[in-house]
Amino acid sequence: MAAFGTVFMPEMIISWFDGNGWSNAEVVSSDSLQLHPGAHVLHYSSTCFEGLKAFRHADDSIKIFRMDRNIERFAQSSELLALPELDKAATEKMILDIVAKFKNDVPEAPGSMYIRPTHIGTEPAIGKAASPSLTSCQYILLSPVGDYFSGGDTTLRLLLEEHGARCAAHMGMIKSGGNYASAMRPIMKAKAELNADQVLFCPDGDVQETGAANFLLIDGNEVITKALDESFLHGVTRDSILTIARDLGMDVQERQLTVEELLERAAKPGCEAALSGTAAVLTSVGTLIHNGKEHTVGNGGVGQTTLKLRQALNDIQWGKAEDKFGWLT
Ligand code: COI
Repeated sequence: MAAFGTVFMPEMIISWFDGNGWSNAEVVSSDSLQLHPGAHVLHYSSTCFEGLKAFRHADDSIKIFRMDRNIERFAQSSELLALPELDKAATEKMILDIVAKFKNDVPEAPGSMYIRPTHIGTEPAIGKAASPSLTSCQYILLSPVGDYFSGGDTTLRLLLEEHGARCAAHMGMIKSGGNYASAMRPIMKAKAELNADQVLFCPDGDVQETGAANFLLIDGNEVITKALDESFLHGVTRDSILTIARDLGMDVQERQLTVEELLERAAKPGCEAALSGTAAVLTSVGTLIHNGKEHTVGNGGVGQTTLKLRQALNDIQWGKAEDKFGWLT
């Protein structure tokens, strides 16, 4: 199968903001996008995006997972980046229309259709380094995908990075390209030097998130993850897993987790750790690398509770379990 996110449906849906209002959405070729080389986004990174998925159910109906939450976050990211205000109802209609158009291309389980709404500042104005783009466009790409990390049977190696941050502290909750770009070099270095899959950013010992997914520690009945603040992404999958865990009677703790506590707990035989995200779903972490030393998490294998939570999420997404939280459209 092609690498995650490299195959696209031939058309996307797009709408332009001209400074006064949004144009009617149009379905156009997804091969290219015409922008002025001086467009604000290309110079000052006025861009945010979303990642959500549509799933094919056994009766061939197509369901989109937690679209409302993703649109809320998309609108919030746009606002925090001073991009023009999104019309949330129009964005929702664009998503529904483009998914309906390509409904026959939504893969069967375990595949899904990844939906990538994107909002960019288009004003050709390179003098505007400290003021927002007055014009913008939003478009929605579709990409049929399999697993981001190969399935639920992989365990990941994470480098704990205490000296650098994923992004500027006030930007973390914004799903913006610049945050991913700023995490790129540390991740490449960790891959090349330590064969690590990801970097877990822990500025000043505060366990935060990796470059592209949230982090959860699962110790027996306890699930521990950083409490929401503006420094990291408020993952929709994170929220879904925590909701499922609470529903299963687990003790969910959204609070500060230090590197010291993480390593102490990880040394216990039954301990598990996992990354969550739309792309990552919920993937086990087997090894933490800290100050040149490797620490096995629990027994180093795929965590049984991690698998159980991942399965419970997948069962809702693919219609094999009741949609008891009302997450499917
Ligand atoms: C997602 O999980 O949707 C992301 O945006 C992360 C990226 C690795 C695809």
